[in-house]
Amino acid sequence: MKKITVFATALFTFSNLLLAACGNANISTTTTNNSSTKGVSAAIPIGIAVSQTSNVALLGQEEVAGAKIAEKYFNTRGGVNGTPIKLVFQDAGGDENSAINAFQTLINKDKVVGIVGPTLSQQAFSADPIADRAQVPVIGPSNTAKGIPEIGDYVARVSAPVSVVAPNAVKAAIQKNPRLKKVAVFYAQNDAFSKSETEIFQKTVRDLGLDLITVQKFQTTDTDFQAQATNALNLKPDLIIISGLAADGGNLIRQLRELGYKGIIIGGNGLNTANVFKVCKALCDGVMIAQAYSPEHPGEINRSFRQAYLQQYKTEPPQFSAQTFTAVQVFVEALKSLDKKTKISTLPLKQLRIQLNKELLAGKYDTPLGEIAFTPEGEVIQKEFYVAQIKMQPNGNDGKFAFLK
Ligand code: ALA
Repeated sequence: MKKITVFATALFTFSNLLLAACGNANISTTTTNNSSTKGVSAAIPIGIAVSQTSNVALLGQEEVAGAKIAEKYFNTRGGVNGTPIKLVFQDAGGDENSAINAFQTLINKDKVVGIVGPTLSQQAFSADPIADRAQVPVIGPSNTAKGIPEIGDYVARVSAPVSVVAPNAVKAAIQKNPRLKKVAVFYAQNDAFSKSETEIFQKTVRDLGLDLITVQKFQTTDTDFQAQATNALNLKPDLIIISGLAADGGNLIRQLRELGYKGIIIGGNGLNTANVFKVCKALCDGVMIAQAYSPEHPGEINRSFRQAYLQQYKTEPPQFSAQTFTAVQVFVEALKSLDKKTKISTLPLKQLRIQLNKELLAGKYDTPLGEIAFTPEGEVIQKEFYVAQIKMQPNGNDGKFAFLK
């Protein structure tokens, strides 16, 4: 039975690839024709492959917003030494196959110079190797699992890894309640990022001398957490730490509170969106989440980004928007600096992609996240991290992330 399933999956994946390949051949002819038209070929295409549909769009929506603000911001300021950029969006959906299809379309049909995406680490481990083999630079806007930059030479990220972000939340929880001792950990076992993050949370708990009393597993597709929640609550934890995504994580928070849990809850990076407010409503109140971005960060570029976001969405910009803005910024600034050395309009696409990758890894960037750079492997080097706590209005509809000092 298992063999048949594996074979069927392989066949499905293969036929998908085949379909994508056939599609690409046709459409790329159209693109070639189009690209001779003035104005179309003028703008530099940068691919955005984040989740615009499925539950993962709870995170991806914020990434689309950040990318669009970046496009406007940089084009208003002259784009790449006078040439505008054009973001090309392909929906990376909620799973690996959709992310792979989005990447293939961007690489072969849209002929982008580089890709910002995908949303999930789970998707990155499947889609990034495709770009890497095609020598197309990828910047992960939100992939925080261990091992992302190591996927290949063409893969970098602006999303600081779980190892540097997650421990901050546990330390903040101890500051809130110095007597806390018993910790229950929950994680989504079908998600690469959640597995990676829980390892860091569990290590931090042990390193800080706390008792890890239980580890409960769930799936990102689950909606009912009664069994795991009851198991954990029977052990009377003082702190619960959740590594999952927004919909599942939000439901788990709600059910823990409905079952009477009163202690601190820490949510991981997959819950770091105001879109969880719709899921756990008033019961989201008090959840602590570590942040790789603060709207208060000083500097012109963050002020402009924050102002643009506030104006459009009437709320403070979230981390995923800031990170995606930053990923687009890295491409724009690396293109500018490459263009000063070698006119990029004279470079064949293949060469442009290869040189752009080298250029972006070598640069330093003053971004809404603060000053960042990359290790030769493509890991982000970032200085400042924060912790915020969700504050909900009693109506359960409105809330915000309040940053802790
Ligand atoms: N940080 C989450 C991931 O890496 C969204 O999948």
